[in-house]
Amino acid sequence: MKLSCRQAMARALRLAARPQGATHPNPMVGAVVLSSHGELAGEAYHRRPGEPHAEVLALRAASGMARGGTLCVTLEPCNHHGRTPPCTEAILAAGVARVVVGMRDPNPAVAGGGTERLRRAGVEVEVGLLEEQCRQLNEDWIVRVTLGRPYVALKAAVTLDGWLATSRGDARWISGEQSRGQVMRLRSRADAVLVGTRTLLADDPRLTARLRGARQPWRVALDPQLRCPVGAAILQPGGGPTLLFAASGAAPERERALRQAGAEIVHLPCTARGRLDLPAALAELARREVVSLLVEGGGELHRELLELELVDRAYLFVAPRIFGGVDGVPLAGRQPGARRVAEGWVLSGVRWRCFGEDALVSGVPVRRGGGGEGGVPDPGRSPQEGKRVDSDGGQIGDPGVAAEQSPRSGQGGRYS
Ligand SMILES: NC(=O)c1ccc[n+]([C@@H]2O[C@H](COP(=O)([O-])OP(=O)(O)OC[C@H]3O[C@@H](n4cnc5c(N)ncnc54)[C@H](OP(=O)(O)O)[C@@H]3O)[C@@H](O)[C@H]2O)c1
Repeated sequence: MKLSCRQAMARALRLAARPQGATHPNPMVGAVVLSSHGELAGEAYHRRPGEPHAEVLALRAASGMARGGTLCVTLEPCNHHGRTPPCTEAILAAGVARVVVGMRDPNPAVAGGGTERLRRAGVEVEVGLLEEQCRQLNEDWIVRVTLGRPYVALKAAVTLDGWLATSRGDARWISGEQSRGQVMRLRSRADAVLVGTRTLLADDPRLTARLRGARQPWRVALDPQLRCPVGAAILQPGGGPTLLFAASGAAPERERALRQAGAEIVHLPCTARGRLDLPAALAELARREVVSLLVEGGGELHRELLELELVDRAYLFVAPRIFGGVDGVPLAGRQPGARRVAEGWVLSGVRWRCFGEDALVSGVPVRRGGGGEGGVPDPGRSPQEGKRVDSDGGQIGDPGVAAEQSPRSGQGGRYS
């Protein structure tokens, strides 16, 4: 079968997406080898950490047909020893004449190393074919590699008038069964789920992915004063490890009791407004190989993350209910909101999907104008902190579809 390079790259992208979470903490990568006559000679994808990289497997499959041919690979081949030898060596040994790369390695420490090595050895190299799709495939991994924090997705169920909960804090259940099934899928694809203190205390959530065979995410809560009861649902067996972020002044006896109940406790610095330092929390999670984080409320936590421009995608399940009044729990904090329509946040690349009677609205929140009088971030912290910047200094584009698939992937100089 004859293929153009574009067709070969599209095929490599489809292959790359096959293992979904299994490559964690590595990125997903696919490769296709074309013979010197443009015939499909071999193809493969990276399956899991420690196993050979996609291009090595594809070259093996192509065997002698790779000589003088073209290798199309979704991510720049590595030029360093990790758990496996450098892919550039395998490519040179196979005698490939041309390498077409979807996207450069985003890690500034190694970016360009693989392509440079191949060019020096006389291989023709092109970079950037279907680049946007290649970026979307591993958008969470790119965020962690470039920004040292997880990819943050915010999920909430809201009424038509925008409430997260009633005036008494009752939120069970705003959305329908089908929406809640989709939430389980989102949880199963996340490495960790995070909630604020009041959500922890009001809802007593389990934060488990209740799907057969699902990998359980870390269960994480902000709990500055360690008010989490020792019998809380997030401490019960059947879920991922439990991590509580506490302030340094939290009572030692509470800490002992919660540790005994199975929680890991990490102390965080507080901001000038006495709140836990969220960028520090995210950095701590990234250090623990949390690549994708699902934030599940409440409104105060949403607001703080939005103000800090730390939300990469929002999933809002809008249920056909109206609570009315002015005293419910708002989606994005109780501080004053936007004064003009041109202010606040808009979702870019918005998508709508129905789950039973609910609509899921998802997109990338983008700040427009001022966010409201009360919404000024802590002094000393730039709202640009944590903004996503690609290796060329540009902002990473709208991730679109890939976020729905939210692959698990990991950090590292490319992958090991
Ligand atoms: N419909 C839904 O999808 C949904 C989802 C989740 C929750 N909810 C509902 O929302 C309500 C809770 O929301 P909420 O807005 O009141 O509270 P929240 O966001 O759950 O928790 C806010 C609290 O977290 C603590 N915190 C510490 N550092 C923080 C920081 N940097 N940023 C933000 N918070 C920080 C503070 O606790 P201290 O004040 O102790 O310092 C703060 O008051 C509940 O009624 C729950 O049922 C609904």
